[in-house]
Amino acid sequence: MRIAAIVVAAGSGERFGAAKQFLSLGSSSITAHSVAAARSVASFVIVVVPAEYDGRGEGADVVVEGGATRSASVRSGLAHCAGYDAVVIHDAARPLASSDLFHRVVDALGPDVDGAIPGVAVVDTLKMVSGSLPATVLSTVDRDTVVAVQTPQAFRLSALRTAHASGLNATDDAALLEEIGATVIVVAGETSNRKITTPDDLVWAQTQWELA
Ligand code: C5P
Repeated sequence: MRIAAIVVAAGSGERFGAAKQFLSLGSSSITAHSVAAARSVASFVIVVVPAEYDGRGEGADVVVEGGATRSASVRSGLAHCAGYDAVVIHDAARPLASSDLFHRVVDALGPDVDGAIPGVAVVDTLKMVSGSLPATVLSTVDRDTVVAVQTPQAFRLSALRTAHASGLNATDDAALLEEIGATVIVVAGETSNRKITTPDDLVWAQTQWELA
């Protein structure tokens, strides 16, 4: 199977206060770690960056400019995936995803499986609420019926293209495949595969990196 990877790194880092994906973790950038991990399964790696990016490519084969949303950034990368059978999409902001995890999602693809995504159990109790906080509790969600989903997410190229043809936006690619009725399965994710969203997450990742 010919596999390409798209590492999306075109976010503005609004919640962090800066484009955190180009900060250092050890001797290379957060995004360069994500690109290196993607290379463990992909023979071609595309990194999607903001328009103002002036770096040296983070170790990827191709650098492309992203869009206003995560989904638009994925579509920028997808335009360069012709000829591949499957595409793995990874958030640059998850530099600690293991190469095992990349293999796990790719190995789970098959004739009847269009997509495979990592998920981890939810440990907190979940409530449905009326809106942004403070809010009224509506009900309690059975946490055994939900998982928290991560990247890398692997898809058969044909299904991914069909899903993105809608031009819709979603917080992950699997959501767009769900919309077209494609089959997406969840494999075991990694609790260490935390997304770097706040400065605290970066401090945590640096500690993990030093311990590894
Ligand atoms: O904002 P969010 O946490 O969903 O971002 C997930 C990943 O998508 C990050 O690596 C971010 O850089 C990327 N992204 C992107 N283009 C956007 C928004 C987010 O490549 N317009």
